[in-house]
Amino acid sequence: MTSTEIKNDIFWVGAIDWNVRDFHGYSIPSGTSYNAYLVKDQKTVLFDTVKKEFLDTLLLHIGQVVEPEKIDYIVVNHVEMDHSGALPMLIDIVKPEKVICSAMGKRALLAHYHRDDWPYEVVATGDSIDIGSRTIKFIETRMLHWPDSMMSYIPQERLLISQDGFGQHWATSERFDDEVDLGELMYQAKKYFANILMLYSNTVQKLLGEVRSSGVEIDMIAPDHGLIWRSHVGDIVQSYDDWSLHKCKAKALVVYDTMWHSTEMMAMAFAEGLEAEGVSVKVCDLSVSHRADVMTELLDAKAVVFGSSTINNSVLPRVADMLAYMKGLRPAGKIGAAFGSYGWGGEGVKYVAAMLEEMKFEMIDEPLKVVYVPTADDLARCTELGRKIGQAVKESQ
Ligand code: FEO
Repeated sequence: MTSTEIKNDIFWVGAIDWNVRDFHGYSIPSGTSYNAYLVKDQKTVLFDTVKKEFLDTLLLHIGQVVEPEKIDYIVVNHVEMDHSGALPMLIDIVKPEKVICSAMGKRALLAHYHRDDWPYEVVATGDSIDIGSRTIKFIETRMLHWPDSMMSYIPQERLLISQDGFGQHWATSERFDDEVDLGELMYQAKKYFANILMLYSNTVQKLLGEVRSSGVEIDMIAPDHGLIWRSHVGDIVQSYDDWSLHKCKAKALVVYDTMWHSTEMMAMAFAEGLEAEGVSVKVCDLSVSHRADVMTELLDAKAVVFGSSTINNSVLPRVADMLAYMKGLRPAGKIGAAFGSYGWGGEGVKYVAAMLEEMKFEMIDEPLKVVYVPTADDLARCTELGRKIGQAVKESQ
């Protein structure tokens, strides 16, 4: 890769991480990028850095535009270490005039790197700095997705540098949204939202409302991961609006893990009933479906039908993992049902139902339990409940 001019005298100077596959539990089979941006004006400004292992790549790409020592300001939009890991070494090399961050950003930088000698300049929403022919306006986006998070807007360029917001974990040699397959791009953006931002949906709504009411015009969004939006800005903003409003399709997810295939037989019978009602169904066997992919499917599914066998008076381990991950991401407005096979206690199904209720799912009927192996009548009950859930999904549309 080389540095890429994304607007006149504004450059992508980040790094592509082709080989990373996991982001604290979120599977990223297509790798990712750590995007950093350099603006050349009377002042030279760098926005965010990269993971510390990619410092040399960052320096290489900066060096293709300007000598690193010429950087005047470093803006830290987000302190998480995939964007600030290289910062301490870079500051030693660059010796910038200012390290610009939010108040929470300064606190987080001190807690990460313990350097109180850096030339911090703390900014808040509404603050701006002139760098010559351009202005940088700062918008704090606390809890999108860390307390320190902020975005930088350059009105003369209609450019929003959006840190994690609008990002995707997708390593590509292309830099722009119109250079890749749009379906794949939107899937990656959806997966990112589902696994990183879903629990901050209210904050996303607030931000979108503020952007609308301020009349800010944006014709490019440059996130800290993945592709830069220039031809589909409206599409991704509309998708963020839909996702953060928890808008759902006539779609149901059947999620399960099974010991001896009995719970699996029930899962398939539920799917039959849902399909019979004309609802789109995704069946996710947790022994082959990653939690991050399940969350991606769950984002726009109205119903989640969740099953587990009972083991050791509880659920199967992968079910516990999935439910804990799901609960943390706070899905909202879902219809739910619990099911499973058991031998004697049946606590696994109760556990699933309790977790779905804690997540405020609207539960359709009592948990459906079957002793050992389902009979044809048991499977018919599953299909019938699937139909009932399918009807509820359709009524919600
Ligand atoms: Fe890409 Fe929250 O760091």
